[in-house]
Amino acid sequence: MAIDINLIKLSYGRCLVSGGKKKFFDRFYDLFLASHPQISEKFTSTDLAKQQEALQYAISMAILYAEKKDTIAGQILANVRRTHSPRYMDIRREHYVLWEQCLLQTIREYDAEFDDKVEQNWRELTQQIITYMLSS
Ligand code: HEM
Repeated sequence: MAIDINLIKLSYGRCLVSGGKKKFFDRFYDLFLASHPQISEKFTSTDLAKQQEALQYAISMAILYAEKKDTIAGQILANVRRTHSPRYMDIRREHYVLWEQCLLQTIREYDAEFDDKVEQNWRELTQQIITYMLSS
């Protein structure tokens, strides 16, 4: 399925303005950290305010990457893939599944126009990024 990037951008925009972007990312991390003990363990020494910025940046890069593969976004994501690989943080498929579920749940709560079409497009985007992160 081809991703409708414009639909994703509009949905993401609605999420960030609906309660303020801090609320959106707070909610995501509340869900994500509570999703499994292995997830909260990975973040024990993390500054969550900084991490929220990292996620915001990562989502923008993912959107840019899905839009056009051969941009700076590809290089940045390659670096993120390295930091998350078995040699470093060792983030596994099951962790990415939780990441995707929590992100979709947060979007569902914050995008007032959330529907099946919006969900399908976000799912396609997150699947592409997860496939990329797990490839070597
Ligand atoms: C596609 C999904 C994900 C993206 C795009 C993403 C992106 C990022 C980015 C941009 C950073 C900061 C820079 C870096 O260290 O490379 C980061 C850090 C981190 N991520 Fe992810 N991440 C993803 C999934 C996950 C998952 C599933 C976990 C599981 C626990 C995770 C755990 C972490 C940790 C522990 C850090 C380091 C925090 C610190 O500096 O203390 N990430 N991530």
